[in-house]
Amino acid sequence: MSKDKLILAIESSCDETSVAVIKNESQLLSNIIASQVESHKRFGGVVPEVASRHHVEVVTLCIEDALHEAGVKANELDAVAVTYGPGLVGALLVGMAAAKAFAWANQLPLISVNHMAGHLMAAREQEELTYPLMALLVSGGHTELVYVSESGNYHIIGETRDDAVGEAYDKVGRVMGLTYPAGREIDELAHRGQDVYDFPRAMIKEDNLEFSFSGLKSAFINLYHNAQQKGESLPTEDLCASFQAAVMDILMVKTKKALEQYPVQTLVVAGGVAANQGLRERLAAEINDVKVIIPPLRLCGDNAGMIAFAAAVEAELGHFSSLDLNAKPSLTFPVLEQ
Ligand code: KG4
Ligand code: ZN
Repeated sequence: MSKDKLILAIESSCDETSVAVIKNESQLLSNIIASQVESHKRFGGVVPEVASRHHVEVVTLCIEDALHEAGVKANELDAVAVTYGPGLVGALLVGMAAAKAFAWANQLPLISVNHMAGHLMAAREQEELTYPLMALLVSGGHTELVYVSESGNYHIIGETRDDAVGEAYDKVGRVMGLTYPAGREIDELAHRGQDVYDFPRAMIKEDNLEFSFSGLKSAFINLYHNAQQKGESLPTEDLCASFQAAVMDILMVKTKKALEQYPVQTLVVAGGVAANQGLRERLAAEINDVKVIIPPLRLCGDNAGMIAFAAAVEAELGHFSSLDLNAKPSLTFPVLEQ
């Protein structure tokens, strides 16, 4: 019988310190997540320097917990994986220093993982993926359509020109006085309201796969402030329902366009905003020709389990990194020329 393959994965690109252990490419044995969200709430967003300091405090404890919960000893591991971008440079460097030190001390190969590939590959928890596939990646920092031609081969075919979807949620949430991050609360409020305000759906009539959310965000903020100046208060539920309807129209139109242009059998929808119930409902109702795979809620937000799923693919392809690996805060997939 061949030995189980075990990979330890570390994620620290933003405000979650997380460590996971994966067995034989697809079985998560542990996925410890130390969230700093309570600490950043009072600032209304992530403060990079504060994030780095929190990562330093907990990363070794998270490694110990992940190994303990998995029932695995360091000398049983086959590799160490780490997110090297995109993300906050200081935050990334903490996880990378921990991963490199752990790899060096235990004589293990190092695997570098793109955070967005991690979000996408979290879908492997549901079932093994077949290629080519299309992915809609929606998070606090990114909104992109990604064509995966084969295992480990990612290409951007469309992305946002300005704000990411999650960022737009968090910004309008802040204006309404909601706590950061506001996506989930807006989603809940939207389900109790009506789509009565006519917000712009930028670029949906244009024949490209680009997104833009800054006009929508500004239209929302203007409506809100104008009402405030007149001493009126608009119903929060209806504001949220109208905002969410506009966002979902944009995401659905562009995703359908991508599916028309690239014949695939599978659509993966991943990233923090993939937790959105409104988005899940629209996908279930409107995408019938291809299989839609969305990671479970616990793997939608940032976590090392998703990094482990992507790392297993890299290991299978024989992609390993040297210990002089550097952080790439603006790491992106190559753009596919059309
Ligand atoms: O992927 P993620 O955890 O971190 C990044 O890599 O950015 O995404 C976080 C983002 C935040 O902007 C948060 O407001 C948003 O995901 N989010 C949601 C929902 N849950 C989280 N946005 C809309 N609806 C949700 N249910
Ligand atoms: Zn993320």
